[in-house]
Amino acid sequence: MTWLITGGAGYIGAHVARAMSEAGERVLALDDLSAGVPERLPVGVPLVRGSSLDGELLKRVLADHAVTGVVHLAARKQVAESVAQPTRYYRENVGGLATLLDAVAEAGVRRLVFSSSAAVYGNPDVDLIIEDTPCAPVNPYGETKLTGEWLVRAAGAAHGISTVCLRYFNVAGAAAPELADTGVFNIVPMVFDRLTRGEAPRIFGDDYPTPDGTCVRDYIHVADLAEAHLAAARRLSGLSGDLTVNVGRGEGVSVRELIDVIGEVSGHTRPPVVEGRRPGDAPRAVASAARATEELGWTASRPVREMVESAWRGWQRHHGG
Ligand SMILES: NC(=O)c1ccc[n+]([C@@H]2O[C@H](COP(=O)([O-])OP(=O)(O)OC[C@H]3O[C@@H](n4cnc5c(N)ncnc54)[C@H](O)[C@@H]3O)[C@@H](O)[C@H]2O)c1
Repeated sequence: MTWLITGGAGYIGAHVARAMSEAGERVLALDDLSAGVPERLPVGVPLVRGSSLDGELLKRVLADHAVTGVVHLAARKQVAESVAQPTRYYRENVGGLATLLDAVAEAGVRRLVFSSSAAVYGNPDVDLIIEDTPCAPVNPYGETKLTGEWLVRAAGAAHGISTVCLRYFNVAGAAAPELADTGVFNIVPMVFDRLTRGEAPRIFGDDYPTPDGTCVRDYIHVADLAEAHLAAARRLSGLSGDLTVNVGRGEGVSVRELIDVIGEVSGHTRPPVVEGRRPGDAPRAVASAARATEELGWTASRPVREMVESAWRGWQRHHGG
């Protein structure tokens, strides 16, 4: 097998490239470097610089490298940006996927893993989110992921491509400091950012119907997530049809609990300030991790504290602190 990892120079893609190549899979990466960093890729993993919107390039890469499977992570991922630029998100996330699927079908590639998101669910009022929980995304980013899943399943059925859609929950951490996410868009880096500036971390709402009043999420170490991709890629060899799987720990952690862990790990302990709720935040979003265990034989193994410690080492490398 030779696996093409689109978005392979990105935060998660580079972890996937590393996990798969360390497990003995042959991999190469394609990335337009709009957000990617080539140095993240392990030695021996070739990088093709180019876009998932470039069909001719994709066909050439699939043929030249005799690619037999694709892990598609390349996408734009910022919710607020998707609200401001919905056409760009549909064009790049959905259009890029359609172009890729055409090339995959033409090249006779029969295996594909698609990077989806818990954003497809929107804000369901359930204790644990199962894969059959109705999808109702609340922003264009989540819509492009749900539309992407539909497209993956339809193209898979039409062209005999076996597919796995992985719905990631809240990803953080780094397998090595140089692989860390350098953006400040998610809660862990946002809290590091505030604390290292000497500012109090912010909590948006503490009057939710949760044990401590703050929102509850399912945080997963990116190294565990990368291993889920390896498990999905291997599962595809025995699969005909499609599979959709949550990737989370299956355990809820409140914002206040997470901020406490971040304070302990970083040594920057400032009491958080509570501000008003942000529109669109669900009180609770926690995965049922049962299907991932049953279907992929994969379970997250790294505790939240280890995830925060690894994220902190990455933050110090890139930002100081
Ligand atoms: N980080 C998260 O918490 C999270 C959660 C759920 C889902 N996801 C999904 O996981 C995937 C990877 O996310 P990430 O956090 O690693 O983001 P990232 O921005 O670090 O990685 C995306 C990579 O794709 C590349 N890219 C973007 N558009 C491209 C295109 N059209 N052609 C080629 N390359 C392109 C970028 O340069 C970047 O290297 C995305 O599909 C994202 O939507 C991420």
